[in-house]
Amino acid sequence: MRVVILGSGRGSNARALLLAEKEGRLGKAEIVGVFSDKEEAPILGLGREFGKKSEYLAPGKFKTKLTGDAEEAYIRRIEEAKADLVVLAGFMRVIKPPFLRAFEGKILNLHPSLLPSFKGLNGIGQALAYGVKFTGCTVHWVSEEVDGGQILDQAVVPVLPDDTEETLGDRIHAAEHRLLVSVVAQRSLPKRK
Ligand code: GAR
Repeated sequence: MRVVILGSGRGSNARALLLAEKEGRLGKAEIVGVFSDKEEAPILGLGREFGKKSEYLAPGKFKTKLTGDAEEAYIRRIEEAKADLVVLAGFMRVIKPPFLRAFEGKILNLHPSLLPSFKGLNGIGQALAYGVKFTGCTVHWVSEEVDGGQILDQAVVPVLPDDTEETLGDRIHAAEHRLLVSVVAQRSLPKRK
């Protein structure tokens, strides 16, 4: 199963996947590319460190989505990589229908809350501000509804009385690393009869 990772930031979840692959914990999944919409994103350095094709793909002029041209370039590069699975690991742009249709049922997203709660930006801060006692993270298929596709798995993280966005974020990220690796590893194995 050929996997492409898209991310915009530090790439700690990409690192978890890359490390799991290196250590033989990612089933039959093979990471074949890391792409980012941010030229300076650490995720690209990480991809290179692990010997993966890592490339900045310009997103175009919008802040929260790709322009039509950029979208075409993303689709082309992912097709060239012959990806069976596209993992959005902190890719901070909305994926629009042409992109979705090109990889129907193949795009996974990771979100730092227990969906359907706290969709959108800053799921960790939203949970803290609301005052929930438990939050967590979700891996789900990407659909046209932002953070609204079918849920594949979730992990629960308690909110502690003195938590800040940073302390809660650290525990959510640790849970994300385990969850994402487990989902990708499971999907790469043949289904049991
Ligand atoms: C992760 O917490 C992920 O859930 C979040 O971005 C972070 C990326 O961290 N994604 C979203 O908020 C998407 N709406 P990383 O770059 O260290 O993997």
